[in-house]
Amino acid sequence: MKKGSQNFPTLMTERLTLRQLSINDSVEILLLRSDEEINKFLDRKPSKTLIDALNFIKIILENDETLYWAITKTGDEKLIGTICLFDFVNDVKKCEIGYELRTEYQGQGIMIEATRKVIQYAIDTLGIKSIDASTHKDNQSSTNLLQKLNFKNLESIEAENPNLILFRLTQKI
Ligand SMILES: CC(C)(COP(=O)(O)OP(=O)(O)OC[C@H]1O[C@@H](n2cnc3c(N)ncnc32)[C@H](O)[C@@H]1OP(=O)(O)O)[C@@H](O)C(=O)NCCC(=O)NCCS
Repeated sequence: MKKGSQNFPTLMTERLTLRQLSINDSVEILLLRSDEEINKFLDRKPSKTLIDALNFIKIILENDETLYWAITKTGDEKLIGTICLFDFVNDVKKCEIGYELRTEYQGQGIMIEATRKVIQYAIDTLGIKSIDASTHKDNQSSTNLLQKLNFKNLESIEAENPNLILFRLTQKI
């Protein structure tokens, strides 16, 4: 679909700059991916060392099928969270969204600001018609966020993992 470091889409919001991930983000990626509170509802292998974090970053940078942004506060390069679009299905213009924010930056509306921008970019620039998200049934913060963004619970579709709730945002025509 995209990308290469020269034309990676940096996005700006009122408070945030969403930029391409960099190998210089390994300390912050390790902080995020080793945090038990953040990993609580995420089905993933935690990063344990800087090498794990660096390997993860390299995989992301080599993957042309995923748009993965580092969330930073404008004026400060430091990564405070991540947001990504993945699993693009080009013929039906669909993709998935995922996000995570360092715990000390939660509760400030940062993720809703970032997700709104990324969704706008997906619809307006990539021509995406629907965005899916799956979240653990006990992940209230994520569910709240998705509902504020107008994602609808796909109650009729059973998730492969019964602990997950599937949500979908469909572009209004
Ligand atoms: C999911 C996650 C990103 C939500 O983070 P968050 O900070 O709660 O999300 P938001 O940006 O929507 O912020 C909402 C909170 O900020 C508050 N807030 C403060 N200032 C605000 C502002 N200017 N605008 C909007 N909300 C604001 C809201 O009142 C709300 O607080 P509440 O949770 O007490 O009701 C976070 O919990 C996280 O990273 N979890 C771990 C990873 C994860 O589970 N990811 C999802 C995988 S599916």
